[in-house]
Amino acid sequence: MFPTEKTTVDGRRLLIREAGGSDAGPVLAYIDRISRETTFLTFGPGEFLLTREEESAYFEKCRRTENALYLLAFLKGTIVGTLTFQAGPRPRVRHAGEMGISVLKEHWGIGIASLLIDALLEWAKDGEIVKKIDLRVRADNDRAIALYRRKGFVVEGRLKKEIYLDGVFYDNLCMGLEI
Ligand SMILES: CC(C)(COP(=O)(O)OP(=O)(O)OC[C@H]1O[C@@H](n2cnc3c(N)ncnc32)[C@H](O)[C@@H]1OP(=O)(O)O)[C@@H](O)C(=O)NCCC(=O)NCCS
Repeated sequence: MFPTEKTTVDGRRLLIREAGGSDAGPVLAYIDRISRETTFLTFGPGEFLLTREEESAYFEKCRRTENALYLLAFLKGTIVGTLTFQAGPRPRVRHAGEMGISVLKEHWGIGIASLLIDALLEWAKDGEIVKKIDLRVRADNDRAIALYRRKGFVVEGRLKKEIYLDGVFYDNLCMGLEI
């Protein structure tokens, strides 16, 4: 299923593939950059503390695990977006997991996140294990919420005061999609 090539809204070729051990350096650089571009993540600049070796080991673990996925999206060889998904390890929870997604700000609005989510949904349907995709999104993240709704996610609940940032508490919405 991966790698796969898609076309963005503005006609560029987007490569989507699973992350591998040697991607750790570029992915950590990407994470550092997005942590400075948006406050909608659960970490700020300098707060994502995995080493290159740990990140690399995590990618390899995802590749070996049939209900986990770490996708990278590339424009001309540069990482412009990532999507992570991890379901539970035991029989009662192996069908359900949490998704995380981000895109470099300079490439927002050309459908990269939409294509990454489509790739996850295709993978989940093909694998026949994953039956539920969950996510948490800050209640004021209108852009992400609109995208998730368009993909069929529905709001299942609200977790109050889950995020604390610059002296303000924010609620998270729990959204879910049944496969
Ligand atoms: C949320 C995010 C992943 C979306 O990525 P993206 O590649 O720009 O998304 P897409 O281009 O596929 O779709 C964005 C959609 O939101 C719409 N949109 C843009 N601004 C919006 C707003 N203020 N309110 C509602 N919708 C908005 C766009 O019009 C587009 O919809 P369309 O395709 O119908 O035109 C990206 O903005 C991002 O990385 N944000 C920071 C990190 C983050 O919030 N991650 C999610 C945490 S839960």
